[in-house]
Amino acid sequence: MKNFINIKDIPSIDLKKILKDAKKRKNKRKKLSTLETDKDQPLKGKLLIQMYEKASSRTRLSFHIAINQLGAGSITVKASELHLGKGGESLADTAKILSTYGDGFMLRTDSDKKIDDFSKNLNIPIINLLSPSSHPCQVLSDVFTVEEIKKKPISKLNITWIGDSNNVLNSLIAASVKFKFKLNIGCPKSYRPPRFVMDWVKKNRRKINIFNDPKKAAKNADVIFSDKVVSLNDKVNKAKKIKDFKNFRISSSLIKYAKKDAIFLHCLPRGNEVSEDVFLGKKSRVWQQALNRVHVQKSILLYCFEKLR
Ligand code: CP
Ligand code: NVA
Repeated sequence: MKNFINIKDIPSIDLKKILKDAKKRKNKRKKLSTLETDKDQPLKGKLLIQMYEKASSRTRLSFHIAINQLGAGSITVKASELHLGKGGESLADTAKILSTYGDGFMLRTDSDKKIDDFSKNLNIPIINLLSPSSHPCQVLSDVFTVEEIKKKPISKLNITWIGDSNNVLNSLIAASVKFKFKLNIGCPKSYRPPRFVMDWVKKNRRKINIFNDPKKAAKNADVIFSDKVVSLNDKVNKAKKIKDFKNFRISSSLIKYAKKDAIFLHCLPRGNEVSEDVFLGKKSRVWQQALNRVHVQKSILLYCFEKLR
């Protein structure tokens, strides 16, 4: 069994295998409806337990569908309805119970330590459904979407992120190292990725370009990514942060600096960081991006159960 916690800790070869499997499975399902299972039902009989400590629409639903298509069953629990952390039940005891009833555990949490603690106490795979430092399922799926639309390996493309240095960007940075693609980041000076992230990039002999001018970051891009300025786990002065990012809004005039056939991606939910005409415009592929989470997450699950073909 394998865990799927952070892209940076997964070998490139495995990440590429996941994407290859997702492509094959997606192609094979063209005539099937949402809840019809893949013919081979590779996870038949398994129970996957999803737990959310914070809001989710896409991750929750796309995993529900993914699990069904693989022939497995799922139950989604809210952390607030479990004994965990209340009434004296320790994380270790909860993990033991989860491992007794379930075959896999998936967690969205405000605590990276909690994911780490669960991974040490479970004897079933754990998948990170978003933590303060990482959103690995989102970003691996985004690599798939980019390659699907551009019909090229992402290593041949110029990727730009304009926005906050958050969990999604951390995973995108990790992906840029694992898949060797060029990454430009446009953000205000005081919101640059943390030193330890940049040191990890350097240690892996890759370079990322950071610009204070969003036009420079967007120049020649094949893909422009953005995300909310204020994330779910942000405990900042929101009004100040939004003001600090006011020159980094993705507008139709900014997107003109990218290549003519550039696309715009955003994991959602969105805020004011992107204009309505860009978000709903011709370059935007955000709905295809959201749908692809189903396909890639199926292959992530198969990776965890060591069932990738
Ligand atoms: N993009 C994403 O993870 O969305 P949710 O927060 O709705 O799951
Ligand atoms: N960076 C965002 C991503 C939401 C899917 C957050 O953490 O809220």
